[in-house]
Amino acid sequence: MRAVVSAAFGQDEEPDLVEALRAAGDALIALVAEIEGEVIGQVMFSPMRAPDRCLGLGPVSVLPEHQRDGIGSKLIRAGIERARAEGWRGVFLLGHSTYYPRFGFSPEAARGFASPFAGPHFMFLALNGDAPREGIARYAAAFGD
Ligand SMILES: CC(C)(COP(=O)(O)OP(=O)(O)OC[C@H]1O[C@@H](n2cnc3c(N)ncnc32)[C@H](O)[C@@H]1OP(=O)(O)O)[C@@H](O)C(=O)NCCC(=O)NCCS
Repeated sequence: MRAVVSAAFGQDEEPDLVEALRAAGDALIALVAEIEGEVIGQVMFSPMRAPDRCLGLGPVSVLPEHQRDGIGSKLIRAGIERARAEGWRGVFLLGHSTYYPRFGFSPEAARGFASPFAGPHFMFLALNGDAPREGIARYAAAFGD
């Protein structure tokens, strides 16, 4: 697993983050993609410290040789479905503004939330009618402040 995250990002920050989230018990939704028993992709969702009952998506990674083959999309969609089924209210994300809107994430929806990550790459996906619209957004401790 570490090898996948490391190869996808080409640095230690994200693999370290995955391990820190797991160690803290914050890897609440963690899915992997496998081909013939070999892990080739992963996605992780952790609980936000605020707002209540919201998740943060990340990291998500796919081995470079398997990218652009729909695997990342499948992982993200499966994670979102799981989050919705479990009754989470929404999902925050920091990512590419061309990739994530296809899953329903939008920077506009995140605009009401104060966060050190606020900006065009900070997005939110409301999962139900109970989703918050404004407030403070704080990721799990492993992300830092
Ligand atoms: C981002 C990532 C998880 C997507 O997984 P994937 O399996 O390659 O993605 P999919 O095959 O489901 O989707 C392909 C789409 O993603 C887009 N995409 C992939 N990587 C991208 C990137 N770094 N920036 C912008 N778009 C990207 C492709 O352009 C393609 O778009 P299209 O369908 O319009 O052609 C994967 O490319 C990856 O691990 N990248 C390196 C790590 C990373 O950047 N993680 C996300 C941090 S926000």
